[in-house]
Amino acid sequence: MSTLPLIAQFHQAGQGQVFAHFDALPPAGRERLLAEAAEIDLAEVDRLTRTLLHAGTAAADFSGLQPAPYERLPENGGSAADWAAAKAAGEAALRAGRVAAFTVAGGQGTRLGYDGPKGTFAVTPLRRKPLFQVFAEKILAAGRRYGRPLHWFIMTSHQNHAATEAFFAEHRHFGLDPARVHFFRQGRMPAVDYSGKIMLEARDAIALSPDGHGGSLRALDRSGALDLMAREGIDTLSYFQVDNPLVRGIDPAFIGWHLQRGSEMSSKMVPKAYAAEKVGHFCLQDGRLVVAEYSDLPMKMQEETDAAGHLRFIAGSIAIHILDREFIRRVARGGAGVALPFHRADKKIPTIDAAGQPVKPAKANGVKFEMFVFDALPFARNPVVIETRRADDFSPVKNAEGLDSPATCRADQLRQFARWLRANGAAIPVDATGLPAAAIEVSPLFGYDEDSFAESWARLQPKPAIADGLYLG
Ligand code: UD1
Repeated sequence: MSTLPLIAQFHQAGQGQVFAHFDALPPAGRERLLAEAAEIDLAEVDRLTRTLLHAGTAAADFSGLQPAPYERLPENGGSAADWAAAKAAGEAALRAGRVAAFTVAGGQGTRLGYDGPKGTFAVTPLRRKPLFQVFAEKILAAGRRYGRPLHWFIMTSHQNHAATEAFFAEHRHFGLDPARVHFFRQGRMPAVDYSGKIMLEARDAIALSPDGHGGSLRALDRSGALDLMAREGIDTLSYFQVDNPLVRGIDPAFIGWHLQRGSEMSSKMVPKAYAAEKVGHFCLQDGRLVVAEYSDLPMKMQEETDAAGHLRFIAGSIAIHILDREFIRRVARGGAGVALPFHRADKKIPTIDAAGQPVKPAKANGVKFEMFVFDALPFARNPVVIETRRADDFSPVKNAEGLDSPATCRADQLRQFARWLRANGAAIPVDATGLPAAAIEVSPLFGYDEDSFAESWARLQPKPAIADGLYLG
């Protein structure tokens, strides 16, 4: 760490342009700029500029890439006894209070075109519950079921932190104990232009953006979340994204597979629906588990099939993981070659010109740096990938229309509710895709997976008629 004053350090690193307008700023502007500058690790920016910017965008090396093995569901040839044992082990861990939930909610929701933290987006078919409420009720229900209320960590960004906290306060944390809901901000990285200079967004503001969901590992450490987990006897963190209300956020079988195998990081896969589906791929490279992103893996490889005509790289990542607490700490601190790599993204970055006037670029004018959480997998001991049913775990809201939109997610929720009802003997007509005609909704507090639903349904007397607008709460 240099002992030079901050501004001098920037000059010495060739980044003096950050303070070009400093002398003309009012005191509040100076303070803001200095605070932002203090967040920046100049050595890291220099390293990334040399490796990711000046070295160009060398294509990733996919030689020797093999499809990763995974634990198949019993219905697809897996061992029912192994799955039952995993579930029992996961339930024991939940009863022992070893598990906490973790949601990454720092993304911007740009593609959805929704203004506000994405978790506040209304998503359920009838009650229009926001994503955060769906997760909160699942966590509340799981805590009741296993007799141990769960802690829930939520990673926000600088941009949406205050709005996220206010939303929870306004809704009384959806029934959760506020002392068990923990918000923390993810880190930020400065954007650089094509000559490696840190960009300004305004005369008193650096162009900073979230450091990617991979930044969650550092943020968990920095925020004290890992220490809190240790104090509470929690060693297992269930990680999911804010965009996917179908997720089994607390899944005993998944937790059990992770613990029984002594895994440091485990993941769920779904068989890809078609070759060009935009999900990452679980692969083995030099014996290590990696995720090859859809944007990186050459389409020819994505289209390869095996002798039976199935996609060879079939294991799609749906961004659901279990992480071991001390593994997170190790990766976050970046000891002996285990640091997460950064990825570069070329972007149109609003900035200012030499005179301090705003510039809205028409094409990419710089680079942002992001980390991805799945890049921790190659460092994990005994990583496990398990198969899950898409219908039970994955229907994200990403786009305003078309694939992975509010409309497809609503239909998938309705199908799930209808499936649970039908499996328990309720007569509810559905079409060929399993979609019921009636608008129904099951509160997670009534049932958040087939087991909890079956128990509540068995207790319910009299059984309600299935009609449009039925809400089971
Ligand atoms: C992601 C995965 C992809 C996976 C797919 C499944 C990447 C690069 N790709 O794609 O492998 O198959 O989800 O749905 O992640 N987030 C933060 N901070 C950030 C950036 C993102 O918290 O700085 C959070 C978002 O709030 C969101 C999640 O990470 O919950 C995913 O981000 P997004 O950029 O939407 O990922 P995808 O490109 O959809």
